[in-house]
Amino acid sequence: MALRLGDEAPDFSAETTMGKINFHEWLGDGWGILFSHPKDYTPVCTTELGTVAKIKPQFDERNLKIIAVSVDSLDSHNGWIMDINETQNTTMNFPIIADPERKVANLYDMIHPNALDNMTVRSVFVIGPDKKIKLTLTYPAATGRNFDEILRVVDALQLTANYQVATPANWKDGDDCIIVPAVTDDQIPSKFPKGHTTVKPYLRFTPQPNK
Ligand code: BEZ
Repeated sequence: MALRLGDEAPDFSAETTMGKINFHEWLGDGWGILFSHPKDYTPVCTTELGTVAKIKPQFDERNLKIIAVSVDSLDSHNGWIMDINETQNTTMNFPIIADPERKVANLYDMIHPNALDNMTVRSVFVIGPDKKIKLTLTYPAATGRNFDEILRVVDALQLTANYQVATPANWKDGDDCIIVPAVTDDQIPSKFPKGHTTVKPYLRFTPQPNK
């Protein structure tokens, strides 16, 4: 069955371009992203991996580790990394899982045969410190992912995890947040000392708590 939000992210052991890992141990007690690539030496994937290498400090700032998976061998990955570094003007700085037997791809239901035979689609799993799946995204092979959106959504997930707020449509870092319905009006002054605006009894905004 497909993995759902709130499910535990399945654990596995695998070879990666940065050594053998046990996934849960590797994640430690922070946040994680596992994202899949249809195949090595493909154009869209090459740009995605180069992009993530360049913005990795922004994932580090969020206490988030990122790891890619592609259903090819370690030798293939290592050769491809040289191309990624050369063509994307970067240095790969996070691991790619070698998954030639598709163990990880199958565990995370990343192969969608009606979309793409024998390769993974572009899956993204955001995993919380409790090892539960907080967000999934699925893109087709020909569409590169928007990593600005992935950073934005990590910010939203971390705000919800740390404060009793939700984020409205098109929210971006610095915008006001929504006070979740579980917070009563009486609790607002102590929980949200920056103030709040009540538009409707169920629609209450507060400045972003961690800014
Ligand atoms: C790509 O990464 O460019 C790609 C991979 C599989 C199918 C189409 C595009």
